[in-house]
Amino acid sequence: MNVINLRFWHCSQFLQLPKAVFQVPSSSQTLKLSFRNPTTPFAISYKTRFISPIRASMASPSVTDTQMKPFSVLFVCLGNICRSPAAEGVFTDLVKKRGLNSNFKIDSAGTINYHEGNEADPRMRAASKRRGIQITSISRPIKPSDFVDFDLILAMDKQNREDILEAFNKWKDRHSLPDGAHKKVKLMCSYCKKHEESEVPDPYYGGPKGFEKVLDLLEDACGSLLETILAEHIQES
Ligand code: 4NP
Repeated sequence: MNVINLRFWHCSQFLQLPKAVFQVPSSSQTLKLSFRNPTTPFAISYKTRFISPIRASMASPSVTDTQMKPFSVLFVCLGNICRSPAAEGVFTDLVKKRGLNSNFKIDSAGTINYHEGNEADPRMRAASKRRGIQITSISRPIKPSDFVDFDLILAMDKQNREDILEAFNKWKDRHSLPDGAHKKVKLMCSYCKKHEESEVPDPYYGGPKGFEKVLDLLEDACGSLLETILAEHIQES
């Protein structure tokens, strides 16, 4: 199928819409369109060969609906009371400081439901607070719809990643999950720039240094995660 790639302020990948939507006539001309969403600092622009914006606006899915979708990130660890709530807090803090809150949906989950409904571990909350970061999340287990609702699923360690992928394989047929959804799963430390570690270590049974290490790794990874998302999926003006 012929497709037109449109680069908006967010799409989970470059948008791919059927060419027929735009009714390209033989005498088509190349237009550069620019939109500015009043609620965001992003310039929205795309270049494509197309003649009738009225027809395009009547098409489904509409350009407006698609461009308004925030980029969604889910952080996942084992219990969802230490590492992933901290990751959610660190990333939310960065996004807020850049004035990008409305452009992101950020959440966290655990691969087990043992702590469901609980606040984050007080040691993790205290360590984060000392760095000016608030953790407000309530523990919940990962669920099938997360593979549909989130653009990126970040596992804190390799066991978490394995458990997430196992859950996906278990749920994919019964819940009609998209085939490629498992490709959304990445290791958090794959975004680290200053640290060599490949995993965020579980601090639960250790001392205070473990919680500081978690935050060091998360601050490193979240900074470059945000830069990567902005560069690959969002055009800032
Ligand atoms: P988290 O840490 O996966 O970073 O939330 C843990 C929390 C609870 C347990 C283990 C790790 N637990 O065994 O209950």
